[in-house]
Amino acid sequence: MIENMELEKFNKLYEGKAKELWETSELNYLISYYKDDITAGNGEKKDTMLRKGILNQNICTIIYEYLHEHKVPTHFIKSIGPREQVVKKLKIIPVEVIIRNYAAGSICRRYNLPKGHKFKTPLLELFYKDDSLNDPLVVKDLVLEMEWATAYELQEITRQAHIINQRMVEFWKQYGITLVDQKFEFGLDNDLNIMLGDEITPDTQRLWNKDGESLDKDVFREGDDLDEVHSVYQYIYDLISKETEMTDGC
Ligand code: C5P
Repeated sequence: MIENMELEKFNKLYEGKAKELWETSELNYLISYYKDDITAGNGEKKDTMLRKGILNQNICTIIYEYLHEHKVPTHFIKSIGPREQVVKKLKIIPVEVIIRNYAAGSICRRYNLPKGHKFKTPLLELFYKDDSLNDPLVVKDLVLEMEWATAYELQEITRQAHIINQRMVEFWKQYGITLVDQKFEFGLDNDLNIMLGDEITPDTQRLWNKDGESLDKDVFREGDDLDEVHSVYQYIYDLISKETEMTDGC
């Protein structure tokens, strides 16, 4: 069982804006390493926030364990250190799924929508995953035409995204937090099962408290006070961790 195996970082496969992915001695498993880098606007705004990787790794682990309890398949296997998780190696579908419960961010700018407008049903958008193009919004027909995903894959990631969104709305509601929107990446494992990959953290979700204040990366996108960003991420971790002991080896 991979859960009981000790895996070590072997060879760096990929370095993204917030994480590194490392190969291990097990072909189908990677180690995801959470960095302290924080970026916005596709890397246009960039900084380093001490302990951000530790906070996000720990937040993400709690969320993935919650999703597993609710039978949601994800690439997550286990946390193995302050910044590291063992995950299944996925072939990532190059289509990002954004699901919105309330209007904020790019959809407000695109259509001049009032911030905070509540969507009657969660609104799902697809974006073509390509940093050099700034991940543009894409329609389903083009995804199919260019074979970025099959019809079945699109149907499946849409179905899973709605279920995960509902679970996450319930998760945050118990802490008095509104889940505004979130981004998902999906991929296929070695047996061609489609499942959630990447991370779920305040980097990828918009979270508002009862007063409508942001408890997520918008604090960095819209401000310059890294201490404030840190205290928001720490607040989120403290809120959801309660009985979990933080893996904090540094
Ligand atoms: O920028 P936009 O308003 O479209 O973002 C919607 C949601 O998706 C936000 O929660 C944002 O943090 C997340 N997102 C992300 N990675 C991106 C783009 C958006 O995590 N590349």
